[in-house]
Amino acid sequence: MVTVAASGARAVARCLELSRSPYSDRADRLFRGWLTPAYRATIDRVGEWMAAAGMTVRRDAAINLIGRYEGTRPDAPALVIGSHLDSVRDGGAYDGPLGVMLGIECVAALHADGRRLPFAIEVIGFGDEEGSRFPAAMLGSRAVAGTLHPDAADMADAAGISVDAALREFGSAAATLATARRAPGTMLAYLEAHIEQGPVLEADRLALGTVTGIAAQLRLEVTVTGVAGHAGTVTMPLRRDALAAAARMVSAIEDIACAAASDLVATVGRIEVAPGAANVIAGEVRFTVDIRAGATDRRDRAGTAIGQAMRAIARARSVTLAVATIHDLPPCPCDPRLMDLLDDAVVATGQPSRRLMSGAGHDAMAMVALGPVAMLFIRCAGGISHHPAEHVDPADADSAFAAMRGFIDRLGDEYRDA
Ligand code: GLV
Ligand code: MN
Ligand code: MN
Repeated sequence: MVTVAASGARAVARCLELSRSPYSDRADRLFRGWLTPAYRATIDRVGEWMAAAGMTVRRDAAINLIGRYEGTRPDAPALVIGSHLDSVRDGGAYDGPLGVMLGIECVAALHADGRRLPFAIEVIGFGDEEGSRFPAAMLGSRAVAGTLHPDAADMADAAGISVDAALREFGSAAATLATARRAPGTMLAYLEAHIEQGPVLEADRLALGTVTGIAAQLRLEVTVTGVAGHAGTVTMPLRRDALAAAARMVSAIEDIACAAASDLVATVGRIEVAPGAANVIAGEVRFTVDIRAGATDRRDRAGTAIGQAMRAIARARSVTLAVATIHDLPPCPCDPRLMDLLDDAVVATGQPSRRLMSGAGHDAMAMVALGPVAMLFIRCAGGISHHPAEHVDPADADSAFAAMRGFIDRLGDEYRDA
């Protein structure tokens, strides 16, 4: 049997393997939703890789995949290395899986050398971070962090399948989700490696960056209800067109974000029109609004302004408006001491340290409820992500692998000395 040594390049190759059937729910593109057939195939395959790296493998009640490599001190809290295994629709191969694959590589290298740290290392592949199947995000990491709202179990996907029914297909159930919670005090630190999903590292000609924190997120689901009617007979003054009203709202949202002239961003990324026919005035429109900023007050000021603008448009056009908050996460600061360790490990790979903020959301935002978090960003070509063209140079993944190993060793030394 040929034994392939652990490496960042192997992590990249495994991400590419996972981007195709049977690990994608679509034949031509990558889409892997939580608890779908592709998700089942993926956790089976990734579980094999975890086991081969010397880990004991289990699934929790949220069907997160967890591999554990024991340390020398059984009572020590674990270093958790994680990221997500689900994808957006028409996503790229690396957003999520690369962090899980690199965690497995780090453990595989320790296992091959017969080395153990004082603490255990757990590698977690979270089931849902993107929120691409059910109308909420980070269900996997929030279940582990114990911050999942009980109402999460009542959600259904676009086909009407409830979270409970989907979990039952995997031998779990919504009523048991609370058992996925990790006991307080059992996590020494959380490390997440992730592609940057932006152009900063590439512009600076750097492979790696240390994340300082993650922007606050607010996600709304908006329903605009007008009156459907015949496109040929209802005169313009008599219409209550839900789509025309929603279009004004989308423009107002963009205007508010642009006027802020700060790190504030606001996005309408999904819109559904009913009944959706060329010759029928739209009776109902549903759309999402995603608002982010480095500070909660900036995000919330924009949220308030957006709410006021949408209500004014609804009143002026005699349509009704319903707004539900589906996701609300404060900003997530990374731990200063862990950032220093990560900087040192990055410098040891031969590049200068580079700190940067994350506008994208990550599982670290949920895991911070359990202990200090650190994130390592890896350059991706053109900063492109949430797109099939996502690309990571295997040499950059090798640098990330080296930095993560350096981080683990430094954390081990610090723990021994403490
Ligand atoms: C996840 O990719 C997010 O930032 O929404
Ligand atoms: Mn993503
Ligand atoms: Mn991601």
